[in-house]
Amino acid sequence: MKVLVVGGAGYIGSHVAKALMLKGHEVTVYDNLSTGQEINLFKQNRFIKGDILNYPALVEAMRGQDAVVHLAAKKAVGESMENPMLYSVNNISGSLNILNAMVECGAKYIVFSSSAAVYGMPEVSTIDENVPLNPINYYGFTKLEIEKFMGWYDRLKGIKFVALRYFNAVGYDADGDIRGKEINSQNLLPIMMEVVSGKRDKLKIFGNDYPTPDGTCIRDYIHVSDLASAHVLALEKLNQGMTSQSLNLGTEKGTSVLEMLRAVEKVVGRKLPAEFAPRRAGDPAILVASAAKARSLLGWKPQYLDVEKIVQTVYNIN
Ligand code: UD1
Repeated sequence: MKVLVVGGAGYIGSHVAKALMLKGHEVTVYDNLSTGQEINLFKQNRFIKGDILNYPALVEAMRGQDAVVHLAAKKAVGESMENPMLYSVNNISGSLNILNAMVECGAKYIVFSSSAAVYGMPEVSTIDENVPLNPINYYGFTKLEIEKFMGWYDRLKGIKFVALRYFNAVGYDADGDIRGKEINSQNLLPIMMEVVSGKRDKLKIFGNDYPTPDGTCIRDYIHVSDLASAHVLALEKLNQGMTSQSLNLGTEKGTSVLEMLRAVEKVVGRKLPAEFAPRRAGDPAILVASAAKARSLLGWKPQYLDVEKIVQTVYNIN
């Protein structure tokens, strides 16, 4: 298929572009390089530097494409609460431009990077797609709204979609083909790596009084290459006639902050300075996916189930 990977120079997008290329798809990356990096591009893939807010340029890139993988978004939860306008424009208006350009150019399928943030603070700890959708931050709200817009564009214009609700994306390409590290990531594993490199004095563990076995928050850390393979499968299934879907992507295995710290310490071979700090606002105690739907509908199976192996792929590029 001819696939436009929007945001394909970014952290997850570059892994998706590689996975699509290896499966023989004709990939064009469309990215404004605001957080994406040229070093993440593969010379085999076509690259267009462009912004999703530039509608004429987007339409130009969309001509002749069969499908879109859309990963261009702002994704800092805290920032989305302070500056929602940025998220309204980039995430919502930008996504509507993509859907409109698809209609204008006749592209049929879209795979969209959604998030577990659409669930908010669920009452259950293992989350399937039937759990009520109740985002508690504006970032999660934008992801949910885009899912709803895609539902309408399916009904009204026949564009088929798969929304992939990522749990906690981590790791890097194990072959070392993707070398652009995420810059200033506020997520746990990149922060731990800054403690390893000495850029940061110590890790602050946000809360040790959660109702979990060791008192720290539990998350479902899913390797980025496993996320990437799900995008390829989703596109191929849509092309074979699958109806539109929203699917969770996770390992179905929880790891606490302390367990992640131990895994990093094991990989780097030394203890790391860490201290307990107050809870961070808006952090649910446990978020673990049920990914049964993705497994059965896509035939997807994550390969990285061991957190140490995941950490190793991060350590290798640091
Ligand atoms: C959040 C979003 C997720 C989004 C991701 C992107 C929700 C429910 N989840 O994930 O959708 O894709 O951000 O940024 O909104 N922690 C520490 N110390 C630190 C940093 C983190 O203890 O210095 C802990 C957090 O409290 C949390 C865990 O590590 O329990 C993971 O945190 P983080 O990597 O920020 O991801 P989430 O908040 O789970």
